[in-house]
Amino acid sequence: MSNIMIETDLNVLLEPNQTVDQGGIFIAKGIAERTVWDAHATVNATHAVISAPDEEAARIKSVDQIADIKRHLKADDMLLDFGAGYGRVAQYLLPDMVLRGYVAVDSSHEMLSLFRERYIRRDEEQRTPLLLLNADIHTVPLKAASVDAAVVCAVFLHNHKDVVQKSMQEIKRVLKPGGTLLVYSSYPRRATVMGVQGMLYQAVLNLLGKPFKNGPVRYYSKKEVMALHAGFADLDIIPVGFGIVPKTLIFLPGPIEKIYRTCFSNPVNSFLEKICPKSWKHLFATWYDVVATR
Ligand SMILES: C[S@@+](CC[C@H](N)C(=O)[O-])C[C@H]1O[C@@H](n2cnc3c(N)ncnc32)[C@H](O)[C@@H]1O
Repeated sequence: MSNIMIETDLNVLLEPNQTVDQGGIFIAKGIAERTVWDAHATVNATHAVISAPDEEAARIKSVDQIADIKRHLKADDMLLDFGAGYGRVAQYLLPDMVLRGYVAVDSSHEMLSLFRERYIRRDEEQRTPLLLLNADIHTVPLKAASVDAAVVCAVFLHNHKDVVQKSMQEIKRVLKPGGTLLVYSSYPRRATVMGVQGMLYQAVLNLLGKPFKNGPVRYYSKKEVMALHAGFADLDIIPVGFGIVPKTLIFLPGPIEKIYRTCFSNPVNSFLEKICPKSWKHLFATWYDVVATR
């Protein structure tokens, strides 16, 4: 592990006596030991967080999302990145926009170490003060009303719904009144063939006595998404993506699954999306994204 340090004043946002500072990463007491994400971080972090083979592909895939995040932020905002990974969002956002502070929460120490090492190398990110917090999203040792905006990208879907429910309580607690919450790629739609597969997978996990396993994808109805965000002053639930043929068949072995995806589901869905009338597209959306005001 590297010994590089980050000087930050943002530790005033932390609940007292709930963390230990280890070389610029604040580790929450009682955090779960290690997750599958630590292993992913050491193999190919970029692929793990955004399914991109390399950094350039990740940058291209991130363009629209970063522009959208930017549209919702102000320069003096304190931004919370919930399940920040190695800091993909910060990597593309901060060179373009200096914020009052950036709070990155993740349960993977390996992911946060990658974040720290890149941040230290890049002056354009360092103009925004950074707080790296190694914590579980459902017990976050941040003070109440400590952030102006929160972003969640591709995190909730990998957690059991009870964990997501508790995490949302944490977001409501730490977000200031009037603050903005942006949730991307976190609520895959249940009313799809993928959703049916996901429910079967959860049933198998339950039978195996591992219902809370972090990693497998959980699927949501619009009603569930609305219930999770109860208490927000404004709530916009946006259907995004398109898929009729299931993107993957989760029970296929790796190499056959890849052939299925590249030779069948991806081209067929692209074709169907082109011929689908615009007004029908929401019926085949694959995700719900959320913009909410506290
Ligand atoms: C698919 S990656 C997405 C990373 C980042 N949000 C992005 O979009 O680039 C999911 C991240 O969420 C983190 N994560 C998943 N479940 C978590 C939990 N219960 N508590 C804290 N972090 C979690 C993982 O460690 C991983 O870094």
